[in-house]
Amino acid sequence: MIKNALRAGAYLHHLEIESENPGALAQFYSLAMDMKLEEISENNWLCCGTDRNILITKGESNKLSYAAFACHDIDGLNNIRNRAQGAELEILESKSRFLKAGAFAVSDPDENIICFGLATPDKTVSKKLHAPLQHLTFASKNVENMVEFYEGKLGFFLSDRVLHENGDLATAFMTSNHEHHTIACFKANYNGIDHHSYEAGNWMYIRDWCDHFSELDIQLIWGPGRHGPGNNLFVFIEDLDKNWIEISAELETVIDRETNDWPQSPRTLNKWGKAIMRS
Ligand SMILES: [Fe+2]
Repeated sequence: MIKNALRAGAYLHHLEIESENPGALAQFYSLAMDMKLEEISENNWLCCGTDRNILITKGESNKLSYAAFACHDIDGLNNIRNRAQGAELEILESKSRFLKAGAFAVSDPDENIICFGLATPDKTVSKKLHAPLQHLTFASKNVENMVEFYEGKLGFFLSDRVLHENGDLATAFMTSNHEHHTIACFKANYNGIDHHSYEAGNWMYIRDWCDHFSELDIQLIWGPGRHGPGNNLFVFIEDLDKNWIEISAELETVIDRETNDWPQSPRTLNKWGKAIMRS
């Protein structure tokens, strides 16, 4: 089956997340994630960094408003839309302010809104701390449905699966480009966001981020460690709403390989030490 999303080289461009206290959360992202802060309206804030943009809007804390993927060209975008229409998905209007006219959105089985489009040119805001926004990870009561949607209906590639001893799916890693995953999904007893991640690229940049967090008295909640699937180095912090933020490095580049299976065990989640098991 053609991997339409993979062919489009779609990459996670920005997120909009809701908060009961959007102003304070936006201030946190501006400081912690080295982003320029812009008040769009009383209840809407833009945190803008180089290759990382987060919109924060008044609403229910910890809820994703939408995630936006940018395609490299119009052919890729059209291919994903055709694939979605062929799968009889409802094509919704994109809510994104950063995607050009012609963008569209779909709703996944957990009612997460995912937009696809072509990005307007990014502003270079800061070169101090490098880490583009890279992946979004969901918690879901039904990971199988999420795989059927992202792999089966949009054409993501299922790079890795984590399986319980009885074969039940614990985690799925899926990608829309050559990064190991741009979307992942952990089995959980709720539907929502598990975390979102910024790819610093190499270990020394993770050091710089941790020194930056230290200056702000923000403590790591997990890591440093190395994940099994994706083989990436990681540290995690949490924001004021207790959303988890990952800074990653050395994420596997996936080119033309089969799906790998991993056992659901602490060493799969963290080769180096303590694991945070979701299910
Ligand atoms: Fe992650």
